[in-house]
Amino acid sequence: MNITYLGHSCFLVETGRARLLIDPYLDENPRAAGKAADIRCDHVLISHGHEDHCADAEQIARANGALIIANYEIAEYFAAKGLRAHGMNPGGGFNFPFGRVKLTIAHHTSSLNAGLNPIYMGAPCGILIEADGRRLYHAGDTALFLDMQLIGRGGLDAALLPIGDNFTMGPDDALDALDLLKPRLAVPMHYDTWPLITQDADAFAAAAAKRGHRVQAMRSGDSIQA
Ligand code: NI
Ligand code: MN
Repeated sequence: MNITYLGHSCFLVETGRARLLIDPYLDENPRAAGKAADIRCDHVLISHGHEDHCADAEQIARANGALIIANYEIAEYFAAKGLRAHGMNPGGGFNFPFGRVKLTIAHHTSSLNAGLNPIYMGAPCGILIEADGRRLYHAGDTALFLDMQLIGRGGLDAALLPIGDNFTMGPDDALDALDLLKPRLAVPMHYDTWPLITQDADAFAAAAAKRGHRVQAMRSGDSIQA
């Protein structure tokens, strides 16, 4: 599978049979590679309800006729707007035509319009994708948790992990996450988008290398094969 980093936690994953967009946050992200209007995809996968993970989901899904895959509450939210949506929940997997998607736990929150009248958006999730004989884990926004060792069972070709700190794991906990997940390749995400989550991704990669892990810090717009 070909993985393109579009900034923050947004990735375009191209498999032999599908174009999967994860956590679209482009038009309001000054560091994004590209605009929502330019995205071509057939599925939109959403880890949780925060704006920095689904801000462009409606526009992109509508323009592309794409199927939204997310937890039950997020799926129902977008279905109520007339979009195609497939609801799931942590621990559940489903065999789509392109491959299997399983939602995992994540330790975080999940709401839209946080403030006086937030909309509850169900459990925050990580996303495990199996396609073309490859296994990819997008951790969503999460703290470090010991059950990551279960997610690593069967091997991971790539893991996309937050390192920004404050809202999610910081680099130190992300290093421990690598020990639990043991992916063949890890890519840091959810950092440098705002001053609050500024991190040195290259230093993180170097620290990971000392522990025997391969980490590649991608620039917005970069692609890799996994
Ligand atoms: Ni979040
Ligand atoms: Mn976030």
